[in-house]
Order: sequence, then C-alpha cells, then structure tokens
Amino acid sequence: MIDKIKETVAFIQNIYPQQPVAAIILGSGLTSFTSGMVIEKEIPYKDIPHFPLSTVKGHSGKLIFGILGGKKVVVMAGRFHFYEGYSAQDVVFPIRVMKFLGVETILISNAAGGINTGFKVGDLMIIKDHISLFIVNPLIGKNTDAFGPRFPDMSEPYKKDLIAKAKLIAATAGIDIKEGVYCGVSGPTFETKAEYKFLQIAGGDAVGMSTVQEVIVAVHMGMAVFAISVITDLGIREEDNIITHEEVLQAAQEAEPKLTHIFTQLVASL
Ligand code: HPA
Repeated sequence: MIDKIKETVAFIQNIYPQQPVAAIILGSGLTSFTSGMVIEKEIPYKDIPHFPLSTVKGHSGKLIFGILGGKKVVVMAGRFHFYEGYSAQDVVFPIRVMKFLGVETILISNAAGGINTGFKVGDLMIIKDHISLFIVNPLIGKNTDAFGPRFPDMSEPYKKDLIAKAKLIAATAGIDIKEGVYCGVSGPTFETKAEYKFLQIAGGDAVGMSTVQEVIVAVHMGMAVFAISVITDLGIREEDNIITHEEVLQAAQEAEPKLTHIFTQLVASL
C-alpha cells in the first residue's frame, strides 16, 4: 500500500511540484465550486496510477490543483463510495495520497438526508461528530505504523477550531448554518422510514453514504478535518417519502454558493 502511494505521489508531483496546504473533497452535485479558483493543473483520475475511477453521475473524477482564498489547494472533484463496489482501502486511497503530498487540513463536503426536524432542504450542517453505521472500517487489517497508530483516538475527529472559524465566517456573511451529527451508512438505498426514525433516536441529524471512511483515515494520519453536509432531502417527514438522486443533485447545486464561501474563507484563514 505504501509503495503504491509513493508511486502515485511521485507521478502527481512530477506534474504539479508545489505543495497544497489543504485538500477539498466535493460532494454530489457540487460542480461549480472550482469556478472561484485559479486553476493551475487538472489531472483526471484515469491518468493517475493506482487511483480508482468514479462511476456516479455528478462526480467528474479529477484532481484540480490551484489557488483558493490565496492558498494552494487540491480539490477532489469526485470521490469513491463504498457502494460503488470499491474496497474500503480504495475509498480512502486518495486521502492517504493527500497526506503524502503534504496536505495537513482536509475540508470535506457531502450531500445528506436531513433527520433533524428543524432542518430544511438546502441547509448546510457543520458535522461536529459522526456515527458509523454498518460501514467497513478502512483501518481493519495490519496497521501501517507509517500512517498512524493501531487504535486511533476519535474523540475529536472534526477540529473544534475549524468549526468555530466556520461558524464565524457564516455569521459574518449572514449564512444560516446548522451543526449536527452525521450518520454514515453504506447505501446505495436511501433509508426506509423506519431507518430514518432509528437514526433520529440514535442521535443523528443527517445521514449520508460517504465521508466516514475518509475521516477515519484522515484522523489516523493526523490531519485536521472539517466537514459540511448539504441537506438535500428530508428523511423524517409526514408525507410520502420518495427521494431521488436528481433531487439530491439539484438541492446540492442550489446550496453550493454558501458552501463555496465558507470553504474559501476557511482556507484563507489557514
Ligand atoms: N440518505 C442517505 N444518503 C443520502 C441522502 C439520504 O437521505 N441524501 C443524500 N445522500
């Protein structure tokens, strides 16, 4: 694994030798985020040795290097989901590559279903903690000590200082921002009504099919993590509860300017 990562990193550094300070993972439907960036280099995943290929609509599948908020960043446009059939190791491979590229801070976004009844479609929720449900832990197997410890502490996976900064950025811009617990599930089915109820009782505020495995590996490697969910649909509601992928993509696109502002200012503050 570590040899593969080093080969991938060498390939990327040959194309883009500069060191990004932050990595940004774009969730489903977030397609215009990079329009506010000075783009210096784009590398399609299919050209990168050992990178998996993304298969889902709304995920274009490339690394974008450039400047955001005055800082060097690398953006993952398209991520790998466990439900696509990748192994947990494949899902987190890019996160490990980011760390070996010198990235210390990772900003993650995702589309998520609202569980908290105070949420509405289009809300942003800062993830303050998560519950991993029925997800394969990517650290299962022999521990690679060069990555991190056998039993990583998970008492503060989402950095409090980044959360505080993001809240301030949102308040200054007049952006209403929620905060809550993200439940990570495997998908690809959206939840049944009974499952949404269960997640609500368990203490969840939102539910989605990504992020948790990435965060575990980032924390394992000592990276500072910040994450936001775009609430794209509501699981707990009275009327009939049909959720479509198209609805999710559209809601994410509509909320994108708010998310872009927060990420940009957060990167500028690093
Ligand atoms: N459930 C799980 N994942 C999701 C949802 C949802 O309601 N919306 C967007 N991703």
